[in-house]
Amino acid sequence: MNKVLITRRLPAPVDSLLAQAGCAVDLIDSEAAPERAELLRRLSGCAAVLATATERIDGEALEAAGTGLRVVANCAVGYDNIDVLLCRRRGVVVTNTPDVLTEATADLAWALILATARRVVEGDRWVRSGAWPGWAPSQLLGVELCGATLGIVGAGRIGTAVARRSAGFGMAVRYAHPRAAPELERALGAQRLSLDELLRASDIVSLHVPFREENRRMIGARELGLMRPGALLINTARGALVDEAALVQALRSGRIRAGLDVYEAEPRLAPGLAELPNTVLLPHLGSATLVTRTRMARMAAENIIAVLAGRPPLNPVG
Ligand code: GLV
Repeated sequence: MNKVLITRRLPAPVDSLLAQAGCAVDLIDSEAAPERAELLRRLSGCAAVLATATERIDGEALEAAGTGLRVVANCAVGYDNIDVLLCRRRGVVVTNTPDVLTEATADLAWALILATARRVVEGDRWVRSGAWPGWAPSQLLGVELCGATLGIVGAGRIGTAVARRSAGFGMAVRYAHPRAAPELERALGAQRLSLDELLRASDIVSLHVPFREENRRMIGARELGLMRPGALLINTARGALVDEAALVQALRSGRIRAGLDVYEAEPRLAPGLAELPNTVLLPHLGSATLVTRTRMARMAAENIIAVLAGRPPLNPVG
């Protein structure tokens, strides 16, 4: 029987799906990420692992699994936690969960855009504190979305879904992407710009590029300095795309505001970030709806079942 490790308790009972397919399932039945030592121990002898974005599947993990490992199915669209090149060299298939989380993640980006633009969290805290003195004409003035320019960095599936939602708000759309995105240009009149041009032109900059070593800290002090005064930076992609120390500096100066769902060293925050009132900070909730997380878990399990049955994976990466 093929041993399959599931590294976390998931919101869908995919252990039974895998068991029905003849796999011997080892479920680490915990909400929390497994300790590294436990992960390495439980990987031993696995033919497949269903991992989440917080488990690092690198050379050490592949060694721990041994030569019988055939597939790593990431229950996430991003797969920067996996050494894909090394997997390929060792003949291990890597899969992810694209498409099923696009709409939920785009919704969450908009939750951050609205909350950051209209200072929703500051307002909520004020009301709860009992210190709110009642309505006043100049309280918590925010950014008007109608007529504002939305800058999408990365016009892939999620970036496109975020841009599509802007039509209801009456916004102009700009995007930075290696290739033209005719759908965005046709449907929304979106204009393609270089990253620098986009940063200068946008009232809201929303990041939607996958993390790769070459785009580590692509938004640094220089790029933050190009943003318009009063602009918002929204990140639902990966924390390491942003130089967080530079972001804290820029936020401290009060020039920009930020809505973040992801951080470079989750769950740790960059020093000073949590104290800043001009930020909305979420705990990596992009795909966190029951429907989406259920679809992701099933998709990851179906990839494992396909590979172990000798069929091509449904969602290969790399
Ligand atoms: C979550 O961060 C994902 O990549 O799906």
